[in-house]
Amino acid sequence: MSSATRILGIETSCDETAAAVVENGTQIVSRAVASQAELHAEFGGVFPEVASRVHIETIYPIVDGVLAQAHVGLEAIDAIAVTRGPGLAGSLVVGMNMAKGLALASGLPLLGINHLEGHIYSIWLAEKDTEPTFPLLALVVSGGHTELVLMTDHLAYQRLGGTLDDAAGEAFDKVARLLGLGYPGGPAIQSAAQGGNPEAFTFPRAWLEGSWDFSFSGLKTAVLREVRKMEPTLKAGVEAPRPGLPISDLAASFQAAVIDVLVGKTLAAAKQLGAADILIAGGVSANQSLRDSMQENPDYPVHVPPLSLCTDNAAMIAAVGHRRFMVGQRDALDMDVLPTWPLAE
Ligand code: KG4
Ligand code: ZN
Repeated sequence: MSSATRILGIETSCDETAAAVVENGTQIVSRAVASQAELHAEFGGVFPEVASRVHIETIYPIVDGVLAQAHVGLEAIDAIAVTRGPGLAGSLVVGMNMAKGLALASGLPLLGINHLEGHIYSIWLAEKDTEPTFPLLALVVSGGHTELVLMTDHLAYQRLGGTLDDAAGEAFDKVARLLGLGYPGGPAIQSAAQGGNPEAFTFPRAWLEGSWDFSFSGLKTAVLREVRKMEPTLKAGVEAPRPGLPISDLAASFQAAVIDVLVGKTLAAAKQLGAADILIAGGVSANQSLRDSMQENPDYPVHVPPLSLCTDNAAMIAAVGHRRFMVGQRDALDMDVLPTWPLAE
């Protein structure tokens, strides 16, 4: 066996049960993700009790599977990294208990990892040659978060702002539901927007001048208002809109409004704070239009994860685990999950 450092990562913060073995913080040896999206589709969002129960059923085969696939047992692992928060309490607990059980049985160190930090470190799994340069402006956009963070060095963060109401991904999910496009909403809106006119509807952009915060709930309401004008009796989010509604134009115009604000504020923050590079991560960073608009800027190199690492996975948790293991982090076996853990104050 080589002298590589191997971390077992475990992630169960929302509706994906995931595990991965990562070498030296950058090399994915094996990974597995079991998504519950289909189960939650009928609720139009994640149903926490269902999520937790399914994690319990899935976590053992997923962890066993990645160890088998990596052709290693726990004796070849150096530490166990698990998502400690933020996320759904009942879901986090399942991964945490699995990790604690394995750590107790094997004597391996246990590390509790911040899920948002995991999304950021998905970049280091993908880019081994062109590492981002600090200071790095990071936009983490997921189903639960829209965070703008200045990363001054590895593991060092200064939080600039975040959403005051709906997260960017949440806005995609809610508008998709309203338009009868299903869950998860991001990919559904993206494909519905193809061929739509992004200028067909002028939806509001909440710039919130003078702060690095975001707000997307007004935009969601504006889409609802537009739909109501065309279909006054629609039970929004319960019934699918009638055929004939300009779904593609609505989706494209909504998507353009979200992306304008995300890109505009990120570039403005990069300029004001003297960032060298920009990074986007989290489920919404899978959005092609967001990736294209961000990368079109002439001033900053933009780092985006490959599509397979944008949404929740455990390789990103292991990647952070590796960094933290190397600087000596070791957590107590009685640590609690932290469902509202901020990345930085
Ligand atoms: O990071 P993630 O997998 O889970 C959380 O940590 O929340 O992000 C999931 C979110 C969902 O809201 C989903 O609709 C959104 O990411 N998403 C997208 C796309 N793919 C996933 N949003 C816009 N465009 C996409 N292509
Ligand atoms: Zn996530």
